[in-house]
Amino acid sequence: MSSANGQSGAATEAGAASRLTTWHQELFSAVGRWQWLEALNDGVSGVVQPLYDRHRDNLAVELMHGGRWAGHALHPALSDLPIGLWSGTVVLDLLGKDVRSGNGGMDPAATLSAAGLLAAAATVATGVTDWTVSDGADRRIGLFHGVLNLAGVALQGASLAARLTGHRGPARVLSLTGFGVTAAAGYVGGHLVQGRAAMVNRVAGFSGPNRWVRAVSDTDLPDDTPTGVEVEGRKVLLHRRDGQLYALDDTCSHAGGLLSRGDVSGCVVTCPLHGSRFDLRDGQIVRGPAHHPQPVLPTRVRNGWIEVRGSQPRSRRAKPKEERHGMESDS
Ligand code: FES
Repeated sequence: MSSANGQSGAATEAGAASRLTTWHQELFSAVGRWQWLEALNDGVSGVVQPLYDRHRDNLAVELMHGGRWAGHALHPALSDLPIGLWSGTVVLDLLGKDVRSGNGGMDPAATLSAAGLLAAAATVATGVTDWTVSDGADRRIGLFHGVLNLAGVALQGASLAARLTGHRGPARVLSLTGFGVTAAAGYVGGHLVQGRAAMVNRVAGFSGPNRWVRAVSDTDLPDDTPTGVEVEGRKVLLHRRDGQLYALDDTCSHAGGLLSRGDVSGCVVTCPLHGSRFDLRDGQIVRGPAHHPQPVLPTRVRNGWIEVRGSQPRSRRAKPKEERHGMESDS
């Protein structure tokens, strides 16, 4: 009996310990099943997406993504501002230093609160812009992140209104609650980037193959037709134009769309997912939302085969003398 009790106690402890490490997985899998979020996603997409599509070629829209100039998404960087400013409000409230010392003007906590609201406007604008180029589960989780953030902004707005009308007690409660909601939204945003790799460079770790590898027979590659091949597990876009061969990673650096399914005009390929454009000659971004260029792979034609190799140099690890003697150059 006591042994059975001991076992069930150990199982309960193990279950509790396991819940400590799995609650976030369960949370995000539940988010994916929420019907109300799906319905909201459809409604918001119906309004925002046509607007984005109409203006997607506008440079200001690309700049809101961060674009080629920043090399990163702007939204995560901007989000530090309201969080930092509202942290200051909470600290002033907790220390009782939220009262104006002189005459006129806003008290310090209200000043930080108002500055946080201004910064939140820019953060929301860039967040919505990034959200329009997300798909599937990322889009639903992104919307949940946005809903929490808007709730946080509303609470901060109410807190500021309470401060300006002299209701310090409610202002402090609203500010602290708003900060908690914003922190939860930040956690969800962190999951999007770190858990789901949203807005990160999808080709950052690609390097191989570290030798020349046959990709496709020369006669099987049509002219002026983007063609996807796979060499040693790496997806490669091949394109031949005016007798010149081009090879880029087929996986779009933005969110993993396949460039070989996109259109090529001149030397520019357009990603079919969200419209990023890359120059086939050097992989550079012609138009975002991508922030990172596409790696270029060297090509050659040998014995009727188009061969490619990775863009990283082969390891220079020292070889035993007799092995080095018998090595052939592969270029
Ligand atoms: S996957 Fe988004 S632009 Fe290519």
